[in-house]
Amino acid sequence: MKLHKNIIVKTKSLDFMNTAAMIPQRLAEIGSSSAEPTTAPDSYNVNLVANALHPKKLNLRIRKIEEHSADVKSYYLTWENSVPTPYFRAGQYLTVQLKVGSSVLTRPYSLASSPASALHGEYHIMVKRVPDGFASGYILDNWQVGDKITAFAPEGNFVYEPLRDAKNVVGLAGGSGITPFLSFARAIADGTEDFNLTLLYGARNKDEIVFKDELDEIARTCDKVKVIYVLSEAKGTTAGYEKGFIGADLIQKYAPENEKYSVFVCGPGAMYRFLGGELPKLGIADKYIRMEMSAGARKLADEPGYPTELLGKTFRLTVINRDEKIEAECKADDSILCSLEKAGIAVPARCRSGECGFCRSKLIGGEVFIPQGVDKRRIADARFGYIHPCCTYPLGDITIKIN
Ligand code: FES
Repeated sequence: MKLHKNIIVKTKSLDFMNTAAMIPQRLAEIGSSSAEPTTAPDSYNVNLVANALHPKKLNLRIRKIEEHSADVKSYYLTWENSVPTPYFRAGQYLTVQLKVGSSVLTRPYSLASSPASALHGEYHIMVKRVPDGFASGYILDNWQVGDKITAFAPEGNFVYEPLRDAKNVVGLAGGSGITPFLSFARAIADGTEDFNLTLLYGARNKDEIVFKDELDEIARTCDKVKVIYVLSEAKGTTAGYEKGFIGADLIQKYAPENEKYSVFVCGPGAMYRFLGGELPKLGIADKYIRMEMSAGARKLADEPGYPTELLGKTFRLTVINRDEKIEAECKADDSILCSLEKAGIAVPARCRSGECGFCRSKLIGGEVFIPQGVDKRRIADARFGYIHPCCTYPLGDITIKIN
């Protein structure tokens, strides 16, 4: 067969005949083989490497605790198995598993360390007390140096992607939302990441700013990192600080002139709500706007389309878990995942923002509300009634089936 003057494909009918002759021989071999695997899959080299690089669970130990205030602490965690700890990318999070009373729950915390720290066997996370929070208060009041912590390997999409993001990044951090940017700044400074970061770090006052000395030192020694502090409730002298909220004017004041830039945002719910009206003024393409938003940062009452008359109500939650049927309560303003955890029903979960799909469950009956922007289900899942309970809220009595 001649496809092109320089390409000749040679076919041999004998090859086909030989293949046909192999079939009975193969069937005979399969028929006489033992049904037992000859080698346990865990001992395959490729699986050993995969498990070492991406272990399902990590047994970590708290090496050091740094107290920034009564409500904000840094935890430095080391891996018991060996050095290094599984690698991660700057901006990713670590999900820790907690047992609080009869509840088993998970919480994702952004890693503040540079990925290079994993090579030295360490992760750094920061925890801030959330008013009425179920997990943050437990961690801050109970975790001690030397305690063992169970966590899952780092993951998350709030990472710099050279193919998608602009070379210049304007980071907008609010409060404890500084952690992924601390990771970016550290990673740029040690050469793990290569982009220009202009960080607008918002806090209510100077006392709430964490790691200022280190950020200032990075900005002084690394020409790719610039840090601007923005105080919303400034008291006393504020020379060297911007005042007010981070909005379009401030972003334009510090963003690179006449160059493309990506905007990365991580902070409390109020910050996202404010920026919702500000970012469109910048006129930059959607792909350059990246938000790291946990479901907890949302205020249900502000979500377009939510029937606010339901707030404060409590509904019946029926959970089918294999052959078991469990009855529990769910509050209208709690995500279904929160209600499951409060009822002591363990559901796998990682991101708690609708992204990872770990909590995927089937809605058997009842109506639910999913806020805009967090519905990351596959089209088929949405069509066939699957939900992500971490970002789904009951609109009445509901029945779900969990895996
Ligand atoms: S925990 Fe990730 S989608 Fe629900």
